[in-house]
Amino acid sequence: MREKGLFIVFEGIDGSGKTTQLQKTVAFLEERDLNVVVTREPGGTTLGAKIRSLLLDVDNQGMDPLCELMLYAADRSHHVTDTIEPAISRGDVVICDRYALSTLAYQGYGRGLPLDTIRSLNQMAIHGCVPDLTFILDMDPIVARTRIARHRAQEPDRLEQEKLDFFERVRHGYLTEARQAPQRCAVMDGARRPEDVFQSIKEILEPLLCTLR
Ligand code: TYD
Repeated sequence: MREKGLFIVFEGIDGSGKTTQLQKTVAFLEERDLNVVVTREPGGTTLGAKIRSLLLDVDNQGMDPLCELMLYAADRSHHVTDTIEPAISRGDVVICDRYALSTLAYQGYGRGLPLDTIRSLNQMAIHGCVPDLTFILDMDPIVARTRIARHRAQEPDRLEQEKLDFFERVRHGYLTEARQAPQRCAVMDGARRPEDVFQSIKEILEPLLCTLR
């Protein structure tokens, strides 16, 4: 039995169905009477919401990549100490929409910033708070883009306006990193029917839930 709660992260390129699966997972956990804390990056805290609007604002098109990297790291550091760590210590299940792996995939593989630099910055920003499990919703960026166009009424944000080859690199980044930590990352084929994806998620989650008090 674990002393603390659980920390589960959902990752994937924009339009991969990550948020749908996250919501299904939250409902499933709440049905089991678990205390669930649902949060996200960037913007999981009041301070983080301000950082998020800087990051996604289409008027900030010329943002320097290092500035972007540090804003994500700043958001994360505050988020971990303010929200994630206290919840895990209370024994809650934390479900987070994106975390440190997003920075490796987007700013590292996507923008081309040095992976070592990002790993060091992530190391500082997470304050030792490593997810128990990360679900990566994998999808072809062309399919993901079509999905976004079909379901979204509002204009794409600054990151969503990136070209397809950017998302190809991000996808490759996720898959490469997942191969290096197979015990902590579960890659899910996001192109399947949502019910089938969620069935696979449940099968992976069940044994973890048994470790909770
Ligand atoms: P959001 O609207 O939350 O996108 P999604 O619903 O797809 O999660 O916007 C977050 C954007 O920020 C998304 O395009 C991914 C990007 N991002 C990074 O580039 N680096 C990071 O470290 C994080 C956490 C997010």
